[in-house]
Amino acid sequence: MAIPDVPESVVHLITENVPLWPLTSMHGGGPTRWLAKPRTVVDLKAVLAWIQEQRLSHLVLGGGTNVLFPDDGYPGVVVWMRLLKGIQIDGPSVIVAAGELLTGSARHLNHAGLSGLEWACGIPGTIGGAVVMNAGTRDGDMASVLSSVRILTTEGVREASAEQLEMGYRTSALLTGKVEGIVLEASFVLRQDDPNHCLNREREVVEARQRTQPTGASSGCIFKNPETGSTAGELLDQAGCKGLRIGNAYVSDVHANFIINEGENNTGDVLKLIQLMKSRVMETHSIDLQPEILIIE
Ligand code: EPU
Repeated sequence: MAIPDVPESVVHLITENVPLWPLTSMHGGGPTRWLAKPRTVVDLKAVLAWIQEQRLSHLVLGGGTNVLFPDDGYPGVVVWMRLLKGIQIDGPSVIVAAGELLTGSARHLNHAGLSGLEWACGIPGTIGGAVVMNAGTRDGDMASVLSSVRILTTEGVREASAEQLEMGYRTSALLTGKVEGIVLEASFVLRQDDPNHCLNREREVVEARQRTQPTGASSGCIFKNPETGSTAGELLDQAGCKGLRIGNAYVSDVHANFIINEGENNTGDVLKLIQLMKSRVMETHSIDLQPEILIIE
């Protein structure tokens, strides 16, 4: 057996010492002690049983869009959900597996003439991650279309309604830990429409994003918008953050709430830049911006 203490049932799902930067959109982070790649719910159950039995720390990772791992890596098991795939359409009802990409799913549904997720085109990340942090834009968010999720808990698989997930601005009970479990799939009830109308709305969303947001390795918006007043992007812009650079990470000239990373495995640079942006806004506006991304210590 390649890895000590890993039972036969999961050994084929687990790899040791895997660099995390290629699995995150910011391209930061050292290696994880173990990477688990379940393809099915049965695989996932086996991986979790091993994790519990060995009392290992673990973290569930979707598209890695909003997670920053430290440069010295992660000492436990990263469970990579990207291989849990599938989109099932039954009239206006749709079930999408956690590992499907949000943008890919939205495009697929637009082609099928199912309206409701057009706003999501161009947002990186997976369906599972999007549910947990209630991904969204000004035009919509997961809370506006989600009807329920199936989650895997220590007691088994169960369903939770969207209401039970208490979804708010970039948060949910799954993120705060009030509801425990791993999202396996999300159910939506969409509106049947002419596919051309859906695709036209998709095009508008994508064009607007291309006009207002940069490309390159990033985590999307770094900070949440304050509850009232100016947006984080406006505050950071007014504080002179555009173009600030630390090592290979810099603040975009297109949108001041985006850090673009030209390096690899350099979370240290990104974290220093986040602190600098935060302190600039504190100095100029006395506002304490809160990160939207999850920073793993
Ligand atoms: N603005 C500036 N300077 C900047 C950036 C923006 O003055 O550097 C101004 C814009 O001109 C506009 C206003 O700020 O008048 C708002 O900008 P934008 O429309 O880009 O919206 P945002 O509030 O900055 C939010 C979400 C984005 C989402 C967009 C579009 C948050 C933190 N951000 O950005 O989501 O794509 O609306 O709907 O809620 C993300 O969550 O990762 C993300 C990028």
